[in-house]
Amino acid sequence: AREDGWRARLSTYYQELGLDPAASANAANRAPFDEAMCALVEELKPAVVSFHFGLPAPALLQRVKAAGAVVMGSATIVREAIWLEEHGADVIIAQGAEAGGHRGMFLTDAIAQQPGLFALLPQVVDAVRAPVIAAGGIADGRGIAAAFALGAAGVQIGTAYLRCPESKVSALARAVLAQAFDDSTVMTNVMSGRPARGVPNRVMRDLGPISADAPVFPHAATALGPLKAAA
Ligand SMILES: Cc1cc2nc3c(=O)[nH]c(=O)nc-3n(C[C@H](O)[C@H](O)[C@H](O)COP(=O)(O)O)c2cc1C
Repeated sequence: AREDGWRARLSTYYQELGLDPAASANAANRAPFDEAMCALVEELKPAVVSFHFGLPAPALLQRVKAAGAVVMGSATIVREAIWLEEHGADVIIAQGAEAGGHRGMFLTDAIAQQPGLFALLPQVVDAVRAPVIAAGGIADGRGIAAAFALGAAGVQIGTAYLRCPESKVSALARAVLAQAFDDSTVMTNVMSGRPARGVPNRVMRDLGPISADAPVFPHAATALGPLKAAA
């Protein structure tokens, strides 16, 4: 019912782009880490496997570790960092609220209570024995130095790489990122069903940025697929 309601809310955009709102869309292609993906890890033996939204089932995680991979996981609050360490993560990524993309939150859904990196990082460093990687809003050497001063063993940079030559983001996205300022992003759930930080687009402005009507992750993305393709 929720997905039908979402589809109905998006129908005016479908009409505007000359698309049939009743036509079936390909399901969003994000699936939990499963048997097939685990078999791929065992075949390719990557040095590192990094999980968002918690960790897979213990049996699958054991197979990942047995394949020799260092396991990393994102924590958005101290409680999640402790949980990840207790459940087998070798490295904890402390993801501050500034971070672009999806929030890795999995023990909380309190978006308004997500701490920024400067508050989160030292508390995670104090709470776990595992090395901690800092993520969120780091874009140059000053940010890296600050993260190390707060106890990080490494940093993870996402958004700053989106405009590098190797990135596959569209010219439109590059232009939007080039014009973005400190207050240009919002937390939204309308693009996928889970909270994520991004520069507002029309759907985010019209229907969100947070909407209780968005289908659960990843199904909010399904009905947006044809619109994205057509746009
Ligand atoms: C476009 C985009 C996509 C992302 N996709 C993933 C992902 O698939 N898995 C993941 O663990 N983190 C993902 N991240 C989050 C980053 O790992 C990291 O938390 C974040 O980029 C750090 O903050 P920054 O973007 O301010 O550098 C993504 C980030 C962005 C900007």
